Amino acid sequence: MSALELVADRLRRAGRITALTGAGVSVASGMPTFRGADGLWRRQRAETIATPEAFAHDPKLVWEWYDWRRQTLREARPNPAHEVLAAWSRSTPGFTLVTQNVDGLLERAGADPIIRLHGSIWHLRCYQGCDVGRTEWRDETVPLPRLPPTCPHCGGLARPAVTWFGEPLDLVALEAAAGASACDVFLAIGTSAQVFPAAGLLPHARAHGAFIVEINTDATHATGAVDVALRGRAEDVLKQIAALL
Ligand code: OAD
Repeated sequence: MSALELVADRLRRAGRITALTGAGVSVASGMPTFRGADGLWRRQRAETIATPEAFAHDPKLVWEWYDWRRQTLREARPNPAHEVLAAWSRSTPGFTLVTQNVDGLLERAGADPIIRLHGSIWHLRCYQGCDVGRTEWRDETVPLPRLPPTCPHCGGLARPAVTWFGEPLDLVALEAAAGASACDVFLAIGTSAQVFPAAGLLPHARAHGAFIVEINTDATHATGAVDVALRGRAEDVLKQIAALL
């Protein structure tokens, strides 16, 4: 039995399946990863831009980065990796889709439901934390007419409704993801498994006896601790698995 057939067999027999996706699933849509060679913007790394400190220091610069990513995304289309996962999320009983991606491409492929660990680049909330603006709102305007954008409720500064480095994750999303990690098969797809707490879902799943499958073009920090590492592009490998099911 090939590794691919083994994974398909496990998936067929699984009661609960959870998939955790990272930036790698959006590469075929033209989106750069965070830690790849193409992940720099104006020679800066995401880790230095997507932080509370960077925003406090220069909100306009941080917003320029998000506005640039939103413009790139506007031209992007979901790829087969998004489509396979979206189809499973809708029609496979016991399947839970968890994503670290803020790009909205899984949602555009029709994924539902989806647990977003790091928020959404298409949502904003009040940076000052005013009463109404604390609840995020959707804004798909591309490009944003004025940078930095302001809160429509109090006129203060608005921020992207994403999780920055050093910020806690949304507790409801994290608890739902942790609960879903107690599953039969856990798929880690296109993630470098370096950013916690999301990366902690893998050992959590393992501790609950899940069969862990990694789908990635390269080895990662998690590769040594998975049951099967399928080396390849998520958009190819997921299509091949779907064809076997
Ligand atoms: P990374 O950029 O750290 O990792 C992307 C992974 O995708 C790498 O392991 C690549 O080898 C792999 N990859 C590239 N192309 C692929 C393809 N076609 N198919 C499969 N795998 C491929 O991105 P994440 O792990 O998602 O946080 O990073 C985690 C978080 O850190 C992100 O959610 C983001 C980031 O800063 C926020 O945006 C809040």
